[in-house]
Amino acid sequence: MKTFQTKTSQQLLSEGVIEKRVAELAATLSREYVKTGVTEVVALVVLKGAFVFAADFIRQMTISCRVEFVKVSSYEDATSPQHTPSIQYLFDTSTLPGKHVLIIEDIIDSGNTLHVLMADLFNLSLASLKVCALLDKEVFREGILEGYRWFANNCYYMGFRIPDKFVVGYGLDHAGLYRDLPDIRVLEEEKNGDQV
Ligand code: IMP
Ligand code: MG
Repeated sequence: MKTFQTKTSQQLLSEGVIEKRVAELAATLSREYVKTGVTEVVALVVLKGAFVFAADFIRQMTISCRVEFVKVSSYEDATSPQHTPSIQYLFDTSTLPGKHVLIIEDIIDSGNTLHVLMADLFNLSLASLKVCALLDKEVFREGILEGYRWFANNCYYMGFRIPDKFVVGYGLDHAGLYRDLPDIRVLEEEKNGDQV
């Protein structure tokens, strides 16, 4: 059991529940790709938050994953977006045309990050683009996800719909902390020196 300075008392998703759902997602995605004759994908992991999810997910996939990373940041140390997301690929994107790309994201909140990233990738003549997000917040979202039924039905896979609360753990942070929690918890107001 880890001890934390600030408060993450309410558990939303246990380790076991996450593990089971990640395996289901990987099985679904693998099946979808195999069905269409795809034997290799580029797993594009959105840093930093998705690194834990991605590590578990890719090991459950039954087709080859070339793993690449992209950094998209907008939150700084706050609990809501601070500016339009900026994108930094940590590899040479000239290798992407003709590839099947699977974006691996930790959580979709406003949808801005995904929107900006997808808009950028659409320019790269990919063979296909899919998105797998572990969490999806129940928020009103104009555009990218709810707006396009085709997108939601064909390219978008997610683990859990969660309430519109700021969550941490399993890779998700607040101001750099809590990524190492094995489960997912709601970030609570500052009390003093609680134990998780
Ligand atoms: P969006 O652009 O508003 O959809 O936010 C997406 C990004 O913000 C995610 O990839 C996360 O990195 C971060 N984020 C959004 N909600 C949370 C949260 O509840 N906890 C931790 N990070 C979050
Ligand atoms: Mg993220």
